[in-house]
Amino acid sequence: MSTSALPPSRPHIRRAVITGSAGFIGSHLAQALLQDGTTVIGLDRRDAATDRSAAANLAPLIGQPGYVPVTADLLTCAVEPVLLDAEVVFHLAGVPGVRPSWGPRFSSYVQCNILATQRVMDAAARLGVPRVVVASSSSVYGPTDGRPSRETDHPHPASPYAVTKLAEEQLCLAHAARSDCRTSVVALRYFTVYGPRQRADMFTHRALLAAIAGTSLRIYGDGHQRRDFTYIDDTVTATLAAASAPEDTGVVNVGGGGSASLAEVMQLVEQLTGRQLAVEYLTSRSGDVPVTKADCSRARTHLGWEPTVDLAAGIRAQLRHLTDHAARQAA
Ligand code: NAD
Ligand code: UGA
Repeated sequence: MSTSALPPSRPHIRRAVITGSAGFIGSHLAQALLQDGTTVIGLDRRDAATDRSAAANLAPLIGQPGYVPVTADLLTCAVEPVLLDAEVVFHLAGVPGVRPSWGPRFSSYVQCNILATQRVMDAAARLGVPRVVVASSSSVYGPTDGRPSRETDHPHPASPYAVTKLAEEQLCLAHAARSDCRTSVVALRYFTVYGPRQRADMFTHRALLAAIAGTSLRIYGDGHQRRDFTYIDDTVTATLAAASAPEDTGVVNVGGGGSASLAEVMQLVEQLTGRQLAVEYLTSRSGDVPVTKADCSRARTHLGWEPTVDLAAGIRAQLRHLTDHAARQAA
């Protein structure tokens, strides 16, 4: 699987900015846009020379025609020159992760998810960038009764991270609602994204790595918590569709379509690797919700989007990427 399987019917984007382009989702989005012939201004505060994970994410982009890397921190850099002449800004930069957001690291969540977003939206609005697509999160819903979450549901963020993501999307929408603002905003609530180059702190990556390396996998809670796991290529397709969605689209769920428990994912990992996982059960973590599940009706009507990759195929692709990577490292 690769992002080359994208539907051909989207309007061409001449020039786009991606913030967070050295990250998991941002680097895949950049690849897809470059394939479409878009000039991509990729901004991130991490760069390949000093950060190994950024280097791995950026490897497919560096040197590609149309890719313009900008190493800068959104908290301090001049944002307007970066956004100049962009048709779309995909604002993905931020500090992710539910569990580490308690305690002293909260300030970095506030800075990068709220204050940096204010700087991006302020610049986009001043320049009249037609569209900002912002990465929000399923975590804004908080604990649910198990029914699929709809964008009209009242949000109950259960972690500091989720509070900052709700603030982030609402801040963008508040800018867009100003009578003097020509920028429209689509806020995508991504549900637990997985696939090649997934962040190393995330569950699917850790489960696959534990199976390959024969190390123990730590489970927070009993492993019965469920996530609406969303494959990276589907995430990218939804994000691209958001660039040309109607102006009044607002908030949209992006969920993979099948909610699975961690226990079910572990079973799949064992089947696919042929190895048994050594599992260590720890207490559940504050802010973790028992279930996430997306109602994706709005994504269907406003983005013309539906997920296409099921969990087994997605995890197989992530496993292949990890084993290929390990083989390249060993060579
Ligand atoms: P990631 O950490 O891999 O990528 C985020 C990138 O943003 C990093 O490369 C980081 O260096 C950059 N960044 C952070 N603060 C910055 C700043 N001040 N200036 C410049 N660059 C900065 O994370 P990801 O998993 O690719 O997530 C991307 C976005 O999607 C985040 O906003 C995250 O909250 C959101 N999201 C992710 C998921 C998921 O499952 N991965 C789910 C819901 C929402
Ligand atoms: C993920 C992303 O990390 C967030 O940035 C994002 O905002 C969120 O999805 C979202 O959907 O909005 P999360 O669902 O916690 O957050 O995804 P994982 O980090 O993959 O964790 C999934 C589950 O596995 C959680 O219950 C977590 O406690 C558990 N887990 C994770 C473990 O039991 N062990 C681990 O080593 C890692």
